[in-house]
Amino acid sequence: MYALSKEKIIENLSRGRQKVEVNVYETIDSTNDEAKRHWKECKKVPCLFVSDEQIGGRGRRGRSFYSPKGTGLYMSLLLKPETGLEDAVHITTATAVIAAKALQEFTGEKIGIKWVNDLYLRDKKICGILTEAIMEPDMSEEPAVVVGIGINLSTENFPEELRDIAGGLGHKGAEIDRNALVAQIVTGLLEFAEDMTDCTFVDDYRKMSVVLGREIRYNEGTAFISARALDIDSEGGLMVELSDGSVKVLKTGEITVRLGE
Ligand code: BTN
Repeated sequence: MYALSKEKIIENLSRGRQKVEVNVYETIDSTNDEAKRHWKECKKVPCLFVSDEQIGGRGRRGRSFYSPKGTGLYMSLLLKPETGLEDAVHITTATAVIAAKALQEFTGEKIGIKWVNDLYLRDKKICGILTEAIMEPDMSEEPAVVVGIGINLSTENFPEELRDIAGGLGHKGAEIDRNALVAQIVTGLLEFAEDMTDCTFVDDYRKMSVVLGREIRYNEGTAFISARALDIDSEGGLMVELSDGSVKVLKTGEITVRLGE
């Protein structure tokens, strides 16, 4: 596994002429939490946090994110959405496309996106994205956004409860130059951040989606609703057809789908 190096990340970034403060850790609780602490202290953006291990890695919906040492990539980018938080809703879907394309390029494998923002290799989740807004309740300060990305590269020996769901990229993952991969993802994100109103990434999102045409289930309160995934709308919402033939757009949330069938 390539060692993480601040200098090498900067060197790779400079090829794309990107200016971002880079922080690399051997171990940390959570790179998203470090980004939030940093924002509180100095308000400097854009700023990148990358760690070789997380001991308090967080996932969506209060879940933890398995982040063992030297096997994956755990990174967070702290940004200020220049055109306001409304446009920042696109950042999660854009990140899925940027990370999926980078992983395809680095491994030659076909990576799929499961709505909203999980990346899959065949039928196993290899990457999760956690986007969090940082704002004062009274909006007295400008808001910031943290985009956290966790990728299982050579990760194996997942805890029992993840074994059927999560996977890694095997030997191809172990051979990835993590410094170059971080830089490529950050470059893509910074380019997107220049104009978050630009939704042209949705075409690629659609092409990489592994849920379209499939039967899915989603939560509404305590109920599980079955539907068929039809399309991704221009804003990254999931259009589904319900059993009565009506069409609904899911803006956010989580779906279950059986892949590989
Ligand atoms: C999910 O799949 O539910 C989202 C997982 C997000 C994990 C990444 S790893 C880097 C960053 N720091 C965290 O604590 N979480 C995100």
